[in-house]
Amino acid sequence: MAAESVFSLFETPNAIWHLYGAAQHARVEEASSLMEQLVMSSREARGRAYAPYSGFRVGAALRMDGEPFSGSNIENASYGATLCAERVALAAAVDEGHRHLELLAVSTSAEPNTPPGLRSPCGICRQVASEFASDETLVILDAGTASDGRLQAEVATFDWLLPWRFNLGH
Ligand code: THU
Repeated sequence: MAAESVFSLFETPNAIWHLYGAAQHARVEEASSLMEQLVMSSREARGRAYAPYSGFRVGAALRMDGEPFSGSNIENASYGATLCAERVALAAAVDEGHRHLELLAVSTSAEPNTPPGLRSPCGICRQVASEFASDETLVILDAGTASDGRLQAEVATFDWLLPWRFNLGH
């Protein structure tokens, strides 16, 4: 956990959320149990990753319009054809007609408590997610399990993760 830039902490019986950007306590409190479910689901998705080349497994779980979706990274012998977990999950949701990204959780096979940059969505995935994100969208980076068994994660608002994001004013 990158303690020096932690905005604040929000703790529940099951989770320790490290809040960044404009992630407000009230919003996190309201979303906390959904966020816990999403982290469990992104961990499950990580287990389904097809990552024989890098060995780096990623799972993403998200909620769009109240419905949960997940995806994992799918690598390819032609490396550039690899699909990131976040975009696999987004594609599944958008293909079903969903347009409003509420929450996005990401779990990777990086060691727990490594810097967030080792566990967070790449620039391309941020841009793709940005198409469906709003100021209320929260991104949750799984930081593993704390010594007391609770899950821990960074939680950031989308704007904080991708400031001044490109859009065509839609
Ligand atoms: N990867 C993701 O699935 N999401 C990201 O945001 C970053 C990278 C995958 C792609 C590749 O299979 C592996 O992680 C190593 O880059």
